[in-house]
Amino acid sequence: MIPAYYEFANTAKVLSGEGAIENIPFELRNLRCERVLVVTNKDLRRLGYADIVLSALADGKIEVGAVFDDVPVDSSVEVVNEVARVFGEQRCDGLVAVGGGSVLDTAKGVRIVLSAGGEDLMELRGADRLIGRFLTPLVAVPTTAGTGSEVTGVAVIKDTERHVKMAFASFNLVPDVAVLDPRMTAGLPPRLTASTGMDALTHAVEAFSCRQANPLSDGYARAAIDLVRGYLPRAVENGRDTQARLAMANAALLAGVSFSNAMVGIVHAMGHACGGAANVPHGDAMAVLLPHGMKFNLASAGDRYAELLLHLAGSETFAATPKAERAEAAIEAVRALLASLHESVGQPVTLAECGITSEQLPEIARAAAVDGAISMNPRFASADEILEVLKAAL
Ligand SMILES: [Fe+2]
Repeated sequence: MIPAYYEFANTAKVLSGEGAIENIPFELRNLRCERVLVVTNKDLRRLGYADIVLSALADGKIEVGAVFDDVPVDSSVEVVNEVARVFGEQRCDGLVAVGGGSVLDTAKGVRIVLSAGGEDLMELRGADRLIGRFLTPLVAVPTTAGTGSEVTGVAVIKDTERHVKMAFASFNLVPDVAVLDPRMTAGLPPRLTASTGMDALTHAVEAFSCRQANPLSDGYARAAIDLVRGYLPRAVENGRDTQARLAMANAALLAGVSFSNAMVGIVHAMGHACGGAANVPHGDAMAVLLPHGMKFNLASAGDRYAELLLHLAGSETFAATPKAERAEAAIEAVRALLASLHESVGQPVTLAECGITSEQLPEIARAAAVDGAISMNPRFASADEILEVLKAAL
């Protein structure tokens, strides 16, 4: 069914393939950048990933004003301000972010500070508070295949003084160019490949079944799930499988475009709460909770899940499954994928394996019930109902 009204945007130019990084200088010149600030972290520098990008910039005659490689695991206001200071001091005119979610979020935060200069970062929190185009060009080179941050307008930045995570959301924050190069994820350990891949899958499943889904976000979600089904086990089994790495990078990007337009749902709401209460890694929480969230939503989103069976399990299984059983079979397909990842790399299948105790569940349920991600869930979920879902996942 077509929604009576919807909006959709995907403003990032995508470069995908081995060698995509070598085309960054052309894109920077196109964005009128001559001297860039490269944002990354110490590990990526030490392991040589940042160097791949730096040598491409040198070969392409793009000056590097500075390399900021001090981004921590959780980006903070201080780090963002520091990077913005270096950017100004070195007279840079563009940003190249090389890293996972935290590095990309930092670069987006820097963009806010540079472009909305003089305004209080706290004032700009929330959705669609950032008015006008952000003119500081940003090229994003993700080094994980999960968050989709290279194509989303969302940044989460920690306010260390107030101990809160600030969320910024605006299509003006979407990077200008997203660069998917399989060399950047080749060394991602199998366990991290599995959990980040399950995050991408969760983005696609939740986007497809949430209340704000639309035909365009649906298309991206379907394509993302097809790629996860075909390539996640391969990328986990052999990290040097270039085709599988590139496919998973594309899956994460497709799912990112989908959920940044459609939103997510109860699985992310519970996952955010698990992260807050027990520091459960996001991808692990997603993997454990996805089948349980789908089961809860079955009464409201059964038809949508039935459609997803085609993508989660392939055309033969879809055709062989009676219509009335397809939604349940879709949940089973997710369970089967998770079970295979549990077997191959020890991906947790319960919250207990993630370090959560039954005493923590009521607090997690309360936090999930008021998390922003719950608002577009296909079925209303009270804190009591969420507690039941969490108990089943323990
Ligand atoms: Fe996620």
